Amino acid sequence: MIGGEPFRTELLAGKTAFIAGGTSGINLGIAQAFARAGARVAVAGRNADKAAAAVAILRAEGAQALGQSMDVRAYDAVERALHETHDRLGPIDIVISGAAGNFLAPASGMSSNAFRTVIDIDLIGTFNVFRASHRFLNAPGASLIAISAGQAVSPVMHQSHVCAAKAGINMLVKVLAMEWGPSGIRVNAISPGPISETEGMARLTPTAADKAAWTQKIALRRFGEKADVANMAMFLASHSSNYVTGAIFGCDGGWTLGDSSGAIPAPATEKAR
Ligand code: NAP
Ligand code: COA
Repeated sequence: MIGGEPFRTELLAGKTAFIAGGTSGINLGIAQAFARAGARVAVAGRNADKAAAAVAILRAEGAQALGQSMDVRAYDAVERALHETHDRLGPIDIVISGAAGNFLAPASGMSSNAFRTVIDIDLIGTFNVFRASHRFLNAPGASLIAISAGQAVSPVMHQSHVCAAKAGINMLVKVLAMEWGPSGIRVNAISPGPISETEGMARLTPTAADKAAWTQKIALRRFGEKADVANMAMFLASHSSNYVTGAIFGCDGGWTLGDSSGAIPAPATEKAR
């Protein structure tokens, strides 16, 4: 396997994690890694069937797991889900905010509501999840992790909504880290690059040619694995990162470094080798 192997550890034994958007894809990969590491895990998304299927996967890992149906755009529903997690699984040590929406559309082909929808899910959803979690946290010691994206720092055509939303998330993370640091609450973000076998990349690279074009722009020349992001989440969720807060961690194979596909010719000395 070229991608990261999942951690085999008891690093999160006895911890409770709440994962918004944890019912599929990258965030479910994180939920599975947390479950294997001994955490009790609640996952939440809109679709109740998806949540139930995710819970079955987490229970098969031996974890105490809870599935919830809620929309991150509805603050009261988010708060109810966190309250239930606290009551059933205990004070919350780890919160992941990973719910997101994405589609390719030029700004001129996007309604105001289309733009707002992604801002609502990604950015306001992250505010809702973190804000509502505050009173249910096991603090000091709690770790909050937003799932951002490289689009926060690298502009991408037909992604104005996602670029704006994820840039907002990066700044929200830094301000919350300052405001909640004195209570011993750490707030960080993971910024994944293109990750294989995900809904996000299925939407951004619908054809093999699209996928090849994206791959050419990644320094490591391959998409990442869900386990790569899960490994970084393990670090940020555990005491291994006790002195880390307000940081945005790229997990993107060098995608945000810029186009490294060779448009500028190599110098002669390089060519001679
Ligand atoms: P995914 O499988 O579609 O996961 C999205 C999750 O969020 C699902 O659990 C979904 O469940 C939930 N969700 C969506 N809208 C919601 C809402 N309004 N309220 C509550 N839950 C909602 O996507 P993914 O590709 O793995 O992406 C996961 C995260 O990684 C996202 O934050 C994305 O921006 C980020 N990311 C992904 C990539 C990539 O390569 N895929 C790259 C960079 C960043 P329901 O549909 O049931 O609500
Ligand atoms: N191009 C342009 N506009 C689009 C669009 C597209 N491909 N897809 C949706 N929209 C517009 C809709 O037309 C609507 O605008 P309107 O009211 O002016 O017509 C607006 O976006 C909201 O769409 P709607 O379908 O009502 O939103 P929703 O809340 O049901 O779903 C989405 C949210 C659109 C983000 C949907 O794709 C989704 O649920 N995504 C979650 C999964 C996902 O994106 N995973 C990848 C994560 S990186």
